[in-house]
Amino acid sequence: MAEASGKQTGTAARGMFSGNIGFILAVAGSAVGLGNIWRFPYYAAKYGGGIFLLVYVILLLTFAFGLIAAETALGRKTRLSPIGAYTSCATDREHRFLTFGGFINAIVPMIILPYYCLIGGWILKFLFQCCLGKASALAADGYFGGFIGAPLEPILWHVIFLIATVCIILKGVKSGIEKASRVMMPMLLILAFGVAVFSMTRPGAIEGVKYFIVPDFSKFSIMTVVAACGQLFFSLSIGMGILITYGSYMKKEVDIEKASINVGVIDTLVAVLAGFMVIPAVFAFSNGDPNALKAGAGLVFITLPKVFNSMDFGNFIGAAFFLMVFFAALTSNISILEACVSTLCDELRWSRKKATYAMAFEALALGVPCSLGFGPWESVQIAGMGILDLMDFVAGSMLTPFAALLTCLLIGRLIGVKAIIEEIRKSSQFKLEGLFRISIVWIAPPLLLIVFVSSVLAALGFIKM
Ligand code: ALA
Repeated sequence: MAEASGKQTGTAARGMFSGNIGFILAVAGSAVGLGNIWRFPYYAAKYGGGIFLLVYVILLLTFAFGLIAAETALGRKTRLSPIGAYTSCATDREHRFLTFGGFINAIVPMIILPYYCLIGGWILKFLFQCCLGKASALAADGYFGGFIGAPLEPILWHVIFLIATVCIILKGVKSGIEKASRVMMPMLLILAFGVAVFSMTRPGAIEGVKYFIVPDFSKFSIMTVVAACGQLFFSLSIGMGILITYGSYMKKEVDIEKASINVGVIDTLVAVLAGFMVIPAVFAFSNGDPNALKAGAGLVFITLPKVFNSMDFGNFIGAAFFLMVFFAALTSNISILEACVSTLCDELRWSRKKATYAMAFEALALGVPCSLGFGPWESVQIAGMGILDLMDFVAGSMLTPFAALLTCLLIGRLIGVKAIIEEIRKSSQFKLEGLFRISIVWIAPPLLLIVFVSSVLAALGFIKM
């Protein structure tokens, strides 16, 4: 029987990851997702290739590590999901305003879940087509637009993806989330290496490799930093309530410092591998024309199928690629749904089953308009964005930096960096304590504020992202 099914509710019935490896694979599973494979390559291509990669790595080393460790430690210290974690700390009147941060952290995964399921469904459809040996159909002009614009089919794939996620969540933390991550993450890494090596060894691909790794400083601007920072959050699941939730399932003996470093390394490795899969392949396909990279969000769904179709073994490589993306998307979606379920169980004392079904209903109810926004409801535009783009913008670009900023304030102003350091020290030597302190108190807050304000200004049309 699943360890957390039935009537168990709240903290008393809290599931736990089994130990170091289980925790790392589950958090890495959460981090490695569409953000790495779909978003990272097109952001890297858009913001100057090598220079974007350099800024991304610097930000990862200087402040992302601190935020992963801080959110995880906050969850483990309080043994609660975001709202409870915040409210249990901000009890006095003066700081009660900070409980607002718990709600922001809790609401972000609820906004992301519906459209993440939709894109997960698109991945499933592409995987299915490649398995049927029909990669050439995916490469036809207008195929992707026609598919996502259809009124019914994308919703059916969305539902299949959602059901797969729900089945795993219902099994609980150890038997569901951890087990799924233990199976899917190693397979994902093997597939990622295989496809990247294949892509980089295509004739003409080396120019793409250079574009991706050699920084061109003339392409640097403040937007490179803002874009890299936003990408880092999305990719590492920071400011989404997920790390707090997973931290609350972490045993006291698990080393938070090592786990945070490992998660950062695995996540970046897969993002870089995705860059190596996509950018050189597109360069080789287009005879070195960097304009081919400008397909943006359509790079994976429009340009890559054309690349696969032009290769020998295109169906096989396409299937391997979309299977890898499917594993990545599913393990991340599990963490997004788990963060929502955990909040409902903790705050409303609902059973895991009831909370999961309620969130599945929400994912479907909001996923349908997202899907229709590419077809019959295409004319629905808010601030120049369609429904899915708007939800991604609000949750992914605006609320995640804001949520992370509030966590820094909660720690810096109220709980105290010292208390979080003590929590981390319970199970680790914490050699990076100095860096952690500087990043949480000095580096992260201003940077997060800049990213948040830039996103708002971009939405209002004052700056161009
Ligand atoms: N961190 C997850 C991703 O990269 C949400 O897709």
